[in-house]
Amino acid sequence: MQVFRDGLFEGKVAFFTGGTSGIGLGIAERFAALGATVVLVGRKQEKMEAAVSEIRSRGQKADGHAVDVRDYAAMEGALGRTRETHGEIDILFCAAAGNFPAPVLGMSANGFKAVVDIDLLGTFNTCRAAYQYLRKPGASVISISANHAHVAYPLQAHVCAAKAGVDLLTKVLAMEWGPNGIRCNCITPGPIDGTEGMSRLAPTEESRQKVIQSVPLRRMGTKEDIANLAVFLCSDAASYISGAIYQCDGGQSLSGPRIVG
Ligand code: COA
Repeated sequence: MQVFRDGLFEGKVAFFTGGTSGIGLGIAERFAALGATVVLVGRKQEKMEAAVSEIRSRGQKADGHAVDVRDYAAMEGALGRTRETHGEIDILFCAAAGNFPAPVLGMSANGFKAVVDIDLLGTFNTCRAAYQYLRKPGASVISISANHAHVAYPLQAHVCAAKAGVDLLTKVLAMEWGPNGIRCNCITPGPIDGTEGMSRLAPTEESRQKVIQSVPLRRMGTKEDIANLAVFLCSDAASYISGAIYQCDGGQSLSGPRIVG
């Protein structure tokens, strides 16, 4: 079976939260290039419109909605409009995430909640609201997790708590929705170059070099690395894979965290 063939996702509808920048947009661009109609969700209207226009300017199919994943009713509205306009959703990506480095004692309850609400509640909202519009059987749901789900990173209590929840939520969804032919998996990226997350966590050249030294492959990952895994997981080649957590991190999780500063 040829996984990376032209037109692989022709006729498919792929919906992305966190789709207007970073890893989410990187994956969406690849899926659009492979023929999917991509629907991008982000909080900011302007950013969403710019991402959609860029993809359309390449002759590919894109649409978008400015929605906050913390708002269940708004998410349901965006998903419903996607179903009406483009048909059933074949591929659902939960990539919206928040982050700032702070110790527990430097983080207000509201700061902790903001990240947990974006990452974990946002993933729940997206999946819960999307279920009625997903293709059954056949849909693939991918949530973006992090090594924070199973390794304790100082200054990242909110993300660690949220991503641990995302991993287990994904496994529960795989159990509950598997009988309806929906596969649910997580991708766990390592440090990915050119993302807002990395610019917050490793803002200086020195901290960047520390991150690189923490990766056995001695480089940052790229959005293309993550998109490659996403393509595989949403292809028929992965039709028996569900409830899995796939690390794409150059082996960083083997040596533990060395970031932030
Ligand atoms: N340090 C400590 N607390 C911070 C903070 C920081 N750098 N940035 C935000 N907060 C706190 C705020 O003070 C506020 O708490 P308070 O009400 O007790 O003061 C709380 O977080 C919510 O902030 P607010 O700006 O109202 O919320 P928001 O909904 O815009 O979310 C972020 C804030 C930082 C979570 C969000 O804007 C974000 O994550 N942006 C970056 C996106 C990103 O990096 N994505 C990639 C993730 S890997």
